[in-house]
Amino acid sequence: MGPKVIIHGGAGSALHDQGGLAAVRQELHAIVDQIYQRAKGGHRAVDCVVYGCQLLEDAPRFNAGYGSVLQSDGQVRMSAALMDGQIQRLSGVINVSRVAHPIDLAAHLQGAEDRVLSDVGSMELARELALPLFDPITDLRLREWMQERANHFQRAMAGVVAEPDPQARRGTIGVVVRDRDGRLAVGTSTGGKGLERIGRVSDAATPAGTYATPQAAVSCTGIGEDIIDECFAARVVIRISDGMAPETALAKSFAEATANQRDFGAIGLTQGGDILWGKTSDVLLAAYHTGETLGDTLDQPHGTQMGRIAA
Ligand code: GLY
Repeated sequence: MGPKVIIHGGAGSALHDQGGLAAVRQELHAIVDQIYQRAKGGHRAVDCVVYGCQLLEDAPRFNAGYGSVLQSDGQVRMSAALMDGQIQRLSGVINVSRVAHPIDLAAHLQGAEDRVLSDVGSMELARELALPLFDPITDLRLREWMQERANHFQRAMAGVVAEPDPQARRGTIGVVVRDRDGRLAVGTSTGGKGLERIGRVSDAATPAGTYATPQAAVSCTGIGEDIIDECFAARVVIRISDGMAPETALAKSFAEATANQRDFGAIGLTQGGDILWGKTSDVLLAAYHTGETLGDTLDQPHGTQMGRIAA
């Protein structure tokens, strides 16, 4: 079996601007194809995930790396995690500033003894690695924050993608790859919810948002608190790893999330090559490569939906 790839660029309310939707689709398809080509060339799943996260972190449309949302104090603090399913190892950074690719720090920490670092430790590591200082704030995100400041921060969080649509909310990026040798890896990177209080911790660098075993790998996007309360990525992955059929694991986990009125989406892959996605939110911006075709979830109806593209 050849490689499989699924990525996401956030979940949340509807994107009202159809032009915005078309642009998101084009960008997600281009990126998922670039990751697939790399995996097809024989690169390991974990390397393909880092590469894919870098591409998404570079895209200012998405809330990770360049284009991250601003927190309540007008600063950007980003979180990212990488998990290699083959060796079942998670590494990550929480609330790091002034780097272009938080996923690079997570990748470096795969080989470290202390594998999840918070703000001060992450900045220290960035200095140690001599990463160039990088300002991830875009004009649009800054204008969005200034508007909120003028409105006395009426909104609870910022936009899912960088487009001037006040209804579009919540973002993160995620990449899951099954390489041609059947190894799985997953990465998630985020600027957080936006407008949150200083020190708030996202789900991204926890097993709730990013989790993988040799059998399955999942990345989540949406309201971090909801994802943590369901411990969603680990919940789905462990169910599949314990032998539950992937479609049953997905259906059971999303039924629970819906009953608990959670607001998020998730993407995943199994060792057997099944592509999985699901959401309780209105939209999930996900795209996948089956090895033969490209597809996405952008036109799905609002509310709880899920899908499995069998190997
Ligand atoms: N899922 C991203 C966040 O809530 O920070």
